Amino acid sequence: MKIHNFCAGPSILPTEVFEQASNAVKNLDNSGLSLLEISHRSHAFVDIMDEARDLALELLNLKRSNYTPLFLQGGASTQFLMTAYNFLKKEAAFLNTGTWSKKAIKEAKLFGKVDVLGSSENENFNHIPDFTFSKEYDYFHCTSNNTIFGTQMNNFPKTNIPIFCDMSSDIFSRVLDFSTFDLIYAGAQKNMGPAGATLVIISNDLLENINENIPSMMNYKIHADKSSMFNTPPVFSVYVSLLNMRWLKKMGGVLEIEKNNRKKAQLLYSEIDLNPLFKGHSELKDRSIMNATFNLSDDNFKDTFESMLSDANITALAGHRSVGGYRASMYNAMSLDSVKILVEVMSELESKI
Ligand SMILES: Cc1ncc(COP(=O)(O)O)c(C=O)c1O
Repeated sequence: MKIHNFCAGPSILPTEVFEQASNAVKNLDNSGLSLLEISHRSHAFVDIMDEARDLALELLNLKRSNYTPLFLQGGASTQFLMTAYNFLKKEAAFLNTGTWSKKAIKEAKLFGKVDVLGSSENENFNHIPDFTFSKEYDYFHCTSNNTIFGTQMNNFPKTNIPIFCDMSSDIFSRVLDFSTFDLIYAGAQKNMGPAGATLVIISNDLLENINENIPSMMNYKIHADKSSMFNTPPVFSVYVSLLNMRWLKKMGGVLEIEKNNRKKAQLLYSEIDLNPLFKGHSELKDRSIMNATFNLSDDNFKDTFESMLSDANITALAGHRSVGGYRASMYNAMSLDSVKILVEVMSELESKI
């Protein structure tokens, strides 16, 4: 029985990735050994790490001569402080677009001055605020996709100030000029693989600019010099992320997956807009193609809607408590068919009432 899992994260991966991953846990590439029992210094795992790092750059159309890819631990939440630990010398600029931006701001304040250039907090983060730079900063930090509120940035500033971006919930989902960014990070568990690894892509220029006098585990330069193997990496998460990136490449890469992601989002948003029983949370111009947030226009329909969702094997559609209502997370592995089923249930609700 097919379950349509709209979970915001940890989230679905392609079925073939789950199958390959479970085989590797039993017997990695017919070696007779489990992926989980080999040394991370073995040829087999070093090859996995190298391929995963190369493929991450290839999918984003970036070059090793300009960028260094790392798989680190501690989730995106550790990047909130690690970015500041390495690069906040005087003052950094932030855009406050939701819970995760706020957390990044809070951590950065432990290391230096923070200037919040724009915030949509007063409107419960239903849009991406406008902002401009009026002075120099060590860097500018933003969140490309706001997983909880369902907004997404479509424009990134053109500036000499280094741009750092939390892409945890839309990495590999759409084509951008990734060379705009000086540092990108993303926890694996949304669009890349299982929880455990965090992808960091850092410009080689930035790596040259790191204060050596910080703890080793916090120092990007040390992780880069050790080819992301300063300590034992999260082997399972890196391997499954690699399988997923191979799948993505086979599907035609980010360019092709973006087309599918846009079709899914368009289908769902048109139902939200046309069906009077639903209303969207975010402003049209900033709607996320990864996480669509919406509410019922009348809570009296809640029980009927939720029992219809359950009959259709739709799961994990509940919105985050700070928005309420519903959130459909439609990461790369989500099929258009699953979104069609959700839309059918929504339109069936309208015909019932
Ligand atoms: C955009 C964004 N940033 C950061 C995080 C926090 O990630 P982690 O749990 O890997 O620390 C999340 C988690 O949902 C997220 O969606």
